[in-house]
Amino acid sequence: MKILLRNMKLINSLLIIMSVLILNCDQGIPSRDLNGNGTIDLYEDNNAEVEKRVEDALSRMTLDEKINLVVGQGMSFGGAESKVEERVPGAAGNTYPIESLGIPTIVLADGPAGLRIQPTREGTDETFYCTAFPIATLVASSWDTELANNIGKAFGNEVKEYGADVLLAPALNIHRTPLAGRNFEYYSEDPLLAGKMTAAMVNGVESQGVGTSVKHFVANNQETNRMLVNAVISERALREIYLRGFQIAIKESDPWTVMSAYNRINGKFASQNPDLLQKVLREDWGYEGMVMTDWFAGNDAVAQMEAGNELLMPGTDQQLEEIRNAVESGELSEEVIDLNAGRILNVIFRSPAFLGYEYSNNPRLEENAITARKAAAEGMILLKNENDALPISGDLADIAAFGNTSYKFIAGGTGSGDVNEAYTVSLVEGLQNAGLTVDEALMETYQEYMEIENAKIPEPENPFMLKPSAPEMKVSKALAEEMAAKADIAFITIGRNSGEFADRELDGDFYLTQREKDMINVVTDAFHAQDKKVVVILNIGNVIEMTSWNSKPDAILLSWQGGQEGGNAVSDILTGKVNPSGKLPTTFPIKFDDIPSSKNFPGEDLSEEMIMSDMGFPIGRESQVVYEEGIYVGYRYFNTFDVPVTYEFGYGLSYTTFDYSDITLTSDTFDGSLEATVKVQNTGDVAGKEVVQLYLTAPDGTLEKPAMELKGFDKTKLLQPGENVNITFTLTPRLLTSYDSERNAFVAEAGTYKIHIGASSRDIRKTATFTLEKELIVETTTNAMVPEISINELSKN
Ligand code: BGC
Repeated sequence: MKILLRNMKLINSLLIIMSVLILNCDQGIPSRDLNGNGTIDLYEDNNAEVEKRVEDALSRMTLDEKINLVVGQGMSFGGAESKVEERVPGAAGNTYPIESLGIPTIVLADGPAGLRIQPTREGTDETFYCTAFPIATLVASSWDTELANNIGKAFGNEVKEYGADVLLAPALNIHRTPLAGRNFEYYSEDPLLAGKMTAAMVNGVESQGVGTSVKHFVANNQETNRMLVNAVISERALREIYLRGFQIAIKESDPWTVMSAYNRINGKFASQNPDLLQKVLREDWGYEGMVMTDWFAGNDAVAQMEAGNELLMPGTDQQLEEIRNAVESGELSEEVIDLNAGRILNVIFRSPAFLGYEYSNNPRLEENAITARKAAAEGMILLKNENDALPISGDLADIAAFGNTSYKFIAGGTGSGDVNEAYTVSLVEGLQNAGLTVDEALMETYQEYMEIENAKIPEPENPFMLKPSAPEMKVSKALAEEMAAKADIAFITIGRNSGEFADRELDGDFYLTQREKDMINVVTDAFHAQDKKVVVILNIGNVIEMTSWNSKPDAILLSWQGGQEGGNAVSDILTGKVNPSGKLPTTFPIKFDDIPSSKNFPGEDLSEEMIMSDMGFPIGRESQVVYEEGIYVGYRYFNTFDVPVTYEFGYGLSYTTFDYSDITLTSDTFDGSLEATVKVQNTGDVAGKEVVQLYLTAPDGTLEKPAMELKGFDKTKLLQPGENVNITFTLTPRLLTSYDSERNAFVAEAGTYKIHIGASSRDIRKTATFTLEKELIVETTTNAMVPEISINELSKN
């Protein structure tokens, strides 16, 4: 008995020790006594339920503290000063620190292609450069969500180690028109591709313990009058095209925050739009994070508070006053302030600043540069490759590099999406790094020219704006012939840059300049006369016109803007070290007028008056743009109305070829879910990856349907010559639907559905059909965002 009792005691003590250990493990994140009162209060307890912590913090805060929290601390810019010391110089904004509770400021910093902070600081020789990753459009061109996730992880490491808490990215507005100045920051004309890339990126960044802000919610599809324009969009186009990517991102990741857009949608500013921020975002999609405004967006702080725009950024004294007055007069209830401040606290509690993370200012820059280089090469697209012009052979003695941009590659666009990187590898540097010889005399001619010409161009007044680059150097027939006689091959780089505040121009930007056309002509004539090849590299941020000149060169590589390692990535492809596998996330039309939005871009001014911002900048005119094309954006339009294009959505070549065979469906009737499998085989001589795309044609019923819509994509692993792999896509009920605005529901209509699996939206290799016997109502929504004016007569759907 005694032995039994002794053993029982022993077991008991063991159990106690174990439970203490478990408790300690459970405690996970250490908590800190932030207010210095000697105990860990509920709000300080990092392991307590977050709602309770928020409630506790709110109960300890004065009304004034809560009001301060919902308005950011301003920014040091154009004479204005931030109200708090900016922990990370060059970051875009900071929140209000609640000193009585020891709750720190959290730092919000841009942007989609790399962390945007100031690279140098007064009083130290230390530098704070960040990695310029490839632009979002290039990332989407990889069609590889794992790659986006890896970039996100690398990105998150820099955000965290440089002391920021929330990254103001990724951005996923739809490429409605190639002229939109910020397209480079956005992924695609297709919401499925954009949404999947965003989710992967958010998951990557947030895996590092920092937040994201998916932006710009919603329909920020142009820069012209962006702070005032009213985008008139049908409910169906909103739900299927413009909102859809955000919905996917919110379902498949957990962005800590969302940034509302500048523009109005159907009469109301996005940031003041309860339909958008409450009905769609929270009721329909169940979003539980926080919404912040875009910088200085909207015109009514009280309406923003009420609409569910919790944080006003960067925050102005006028907004504070408006909110204070409205609370005092009873116009704005304290409950709204509590709700909004509470949602901000919810984010703050997760932030590195709150958790006391000691950042190093020493992120993994070398490793991240390798990630950037690999990613860049995965998203570059081979548009043309005749007579096996590429890959080049390793024994070329002399390469002639034409085009100013060959010597000064563009890493990414301008504005808040710009990154302060330590270097950008140009095309010629990339070639030299690969051991190739670039013609020195030609290089010197270009360098001298650019030095003189660039010195003539004044800095832009607004430092965020694009500084125009030197005009293309004129290449004379004599120079081209001289080079053709001595060099083995010519590369011509065409460069384009754009960014925030301005849309692109048609002439000299979408369409090539005369100098550029002349350069392509004289160089190709001279080199072809010597039986030598010419390759064009497109170092551009978005679509340009190509049909008038693409027959000239032997090969064309769309390198996009590949970040700081762009030149190395291009040379990896040119030399065949990497077999190109990128495909277009956006259509290249034959001419601008072919684009369905072209007659409604950038809309019409409703007044002549130029509106000035509080900080004294002109911000545009009251204007309106009608999205008359409805759901027919990009390939949805070109394929439905049989409009020829230069390069279609999903297009891209490889140094090898792929064969598609053996399509099978798990069933020929749809019963809740269906799988489609296809075999893809590498039939060429070198290893390569293929982006396999699944499009669906839904039956016309009550709702009109586009000819086909992307419903799935996958990238194969690197397939060796002869190797094959089965690719399986799962069709869920939601993927069969279209939005019925009469019924506020996503409906799959009964009938025959056709699956198209292929290498692009116009290179379909295998098809199969299945039937849906009875209509399915898959998702119902609130009745929200109904256009104030009827666009039915204008719109085709
Ligand atoms: C841009 C945002 C950016 C913010 C902060 C705004 O002008 O539209 O994308 O995050 O500035 O820099």
